[in-house]
Amino acid sequence: MTPRSCLTVILAAGEGTRMKSSLPKVLHNIAGLPIVAHVAKAVHGAGVRDIALVVGKGGDQVEAAVRSIVSNVNVHEQTERLGTAHAVLAARDSIARGYDDILVVFGDTPLIETAALDQARAKLADGADVVVMGFRPAVPNGYGRLIEQDGRLIAIREEKDASEAEKKIGFCNGGLMALRGQSALALLDKITNDNANSEFYLTDVVEIANADGKSVVAIEISPDNVIGINTRVELAEAEAIWQTRKRRDTMLAGVTMQAPETVFFAHDTLVEADAILEPNIIFGPGVSIASGAVIHAFSYFEGAKIGANANVGPFARLRPGADLAAKSKVGNFVEVKNAKVGVGAKVNHLTYIGDAIVGPAANIGAGAITCNYDGYNKHLTEIGANVFIGSNSSLVAPVSIGDNAYVASGSVITANVPADALAFGRARQEVKEGRAVQLRARYAAQKLAKKAD
Ligand code: UD1
Ligand code: CA
Repeated sequence: MTPRSCLTVILAAGEGTRMKSSLPKVLHNIAGLPIVAHVAKAVHGAGVRDIALVVGKGGDQVEAAVRSIVSNVNVHEQTERLGTAHAVLAARDSIARGYDDILVVFGDTPLIETAALDQARAKLADGADVVVMGFRPAVPNGYGRLIEQDGRLIAIREEKDASEAEKKIGFCNGGLMALRGQSALALLDKITNDNANSEFYLTDVVEIANADGKSVVAIEISPDNVIGINTRVELAEAEAIWQTRKRRDTMLAGVTMQAPETVFFAHDTLVEADAILEPNIIFGPGVSIASGAVIHAFSYFEGAKIGANANVGPFARLRPGADLAAKSKVGNFVEVKNAKVGVGAKVNHLTYIGDAIVGPAANIGAGAITCNYDGYNKHLTEIGANVFIGSNSSLVAPVSIGDNAYVASGSVITANVPADALAFGRARQEVKEGRAVQLRARYAAQKLAKKAD
């Protein structure tokens, strides 16, 4: 059987005034990814590669967000907002190319899941012409009610037009639909704006299709799937649901989390089985954690790769380009940026490693700092295998420390240190026998003189 071709129309022409933002509504982030890109991700997950994106004026950024997920995007501008059916018809040229299935989704419902889209398409494959995605909200007030008869959907009744009996129906319109491609345009073209708001409602397609003898059905999807974002409050609520889903998936995939509700993931965080995440960890985008790694509490990561059985934190900060090899250790109050930390290397306390390569089994003492920036350019620090960097040393880049070398505590290293060498970069200590006694006597006398004044 050849797979059915599918076009997804994403409606994203809404202005989103209630967000009170200069940014288009669908570009606000959930887990570090724009709302509309979450929609595209679900669509991509359902195996759909063709997207018709309906935008308002200046939809360039919206287009870019969708293209970051799916490359085959046709953009259609809906210059006037005359309703959801009018918006779908803005994509007429794309729909007319001929597809087996047409999915219509909203750009502001980021929690739509691939499974819901699959379920709707399966109904089309079974012979339905129109599939409406319904849900059962805790409180149905405000939603269109789905009127069914013998397993067929005969109408969507908006709340204001519903009878008392119809208002008791808990099965509501989620807004998303699937249409048989062959008949979609003919049905959509019959929709009029003959209603109180003078809008072209996509929901009217249900009665039009029924009158035409077509098969119209509703499927039930979980309420989360159709949550639309209109305000920052709803944005935060959707973020919370997304995080809850991700934590659950992560734990079911074999990751231990003691207090999952305190760990915040990004949309692309990868954590392998048998990693352990302690409480209060925040992931920015681009982080992967290999099996057996232990991440201690209060750590913050972004653009970082953590190898197998590595041990990180508590209070570690990994910035973009941090690449920790297997069994390495990065401890408390350590910041790593654009640096490789070799197998089994230890950077345990109070250190900044930036623009550096730390060799395997090297040991970086407390308070050591790579001085990577001269105010104009960034420079590289290379630290070989088995190197010991004494506490509170400054490594002034560009500089390299050869394998097995040893840097004395408190050194300021400005010149390369060859392999196996011992480097001191500090003033030699002087000891004056008995001088502490004299010093105390002098200071005590000074204090007494001051009091007498
Ligand atoms: C829609 C449904 C309603 C359902 C609800 C679920 C219709 C007529 N109504 O109402 O039955 O219960 O979703 O949330 O479909 N858009 C455009 N251009 C337009 C109009 C809308 O691009 O001209 C986009 C919006 O940006 C939004 C989506 O379509 O992403 C839905 O429009 P919206 O006005 O929010 O519809 P609802 O009133 O929520
Ligand atoms: Ca809405």
